[in-house]
Amino acid sequence: MASSPAAPLAVVTGGNAGIGLAIADRLGALGHRLLLVARDGARLEAAARDLSDRHGVVVDTRACDLSDAAATEALAAEIAALAPAVLVNNAGFGDYGPFADLPPPSGAGMIATNVAALTRLTSAVLPSMRTRASGRVLNVASTAAFAPLPLAAVYGASKAYVLSFSLALAEELAGSGVTVTALCPGPTPTGFAARAGMTRTELFRGAPSTSAEEVAARGVAAMLAGKGMVVVGGANRLLAFATRFAPRALAARATHRAMRERLR
Ligand SMILES: NC(=O)c1ccc[n+]([C@@H]2O[C@H](COP(=O)([O-])OP(=O)(O)OC[C@H]3O[C@@H](n4cnc5c(N)ncnc54)[C@H](OP(=O)(O)O)[C@@H]3O)[C@@H](O)[C@H]2O)c1
Repeated sequence: MASSPAAPLAVVTGGNAGIGLAIADRLGALGHRLLLVARDGARLEAAARDLSDRHGVVVDTRACDLSDAAATEALAAEIAALAPAVLVNNAGFGDYGPFADLPPPSGAGMIATNVAALTRLTSAVLPSMRTRASGRVLNVASTAAFAPLPLAAVYGASKAYVLSFSLALAEELAGSGVTVTALCPGPTPTGFAARAGMTRTELFRGAPSTSAEEVAARGVAAMLAGKGMVVVGGANRLLAFATRFAPRALAARATHRAMRERLR
């Protein structure tokens, strides 16, 4: 049975692959209408067909490059008018290498997507959510938010922003009926590491990973419970706890080691 037009709408950026697709899958199973946003239109259509077939919900798509400020602005206006019940800011990417060696303007697209678009889309949905005294925002950060990340310096800083921004909003909105949750996964087997050039790092070769489905399950559960933050995986929770007490320079040295390439 197809979801009615009155079913609550969830907007999921990066909803055509990886963690975003797994989150969209869970929200579809809960009966949400879905609007999936990403660049690759063919993959968006394939994801929409699959989710709609399996969950019987209405799934719309928008092909949009969130690193493009004008495209993001147009999407923000559209989403503001749709007044969704749920916004999942998941789209994001990383890169790899010493910052000084990366070709300028390295990092600009990452800041535009991981930081600026996430901020703009959040500002687009909060007014209607506050008026209704109901709404959920789930922002996908990372365990990279907890310590500086040499060899992915801009990526780590972008995720530190997502965590700080989300926790600040969660506090500002306490008691309003609107909640903001930061989801902090560790290494997760998706297309992310290959796209970022990180597959040979100690981090992605050595660390235990959690599936995208498990990350999505934990994230959606935390969002529905109105939690400010969720760190996925026992080892990652320990890491998040330990970095609160380690001198920052020491933490940067440890993450630098984890980000080096394993040669065999
Ligand atoms: N995988 C991990 O180890 C890991 C760990 C911690 C946090 N995260 C975070 O989890 C989120 C999802 O990543 P993932 O692991 O699922 O990676 P993924 O499989 O590479 O998926 C990334 C998603 O973001 C979309 N996207 C990327 N750049 C975009 C842009 N400029 N405009 C619009 N959409 C864009 C991609 O779609 P198109 O390419 O079609 O645009 C895709 O749907 C990211 O924010 C990432 O930083 C991942």
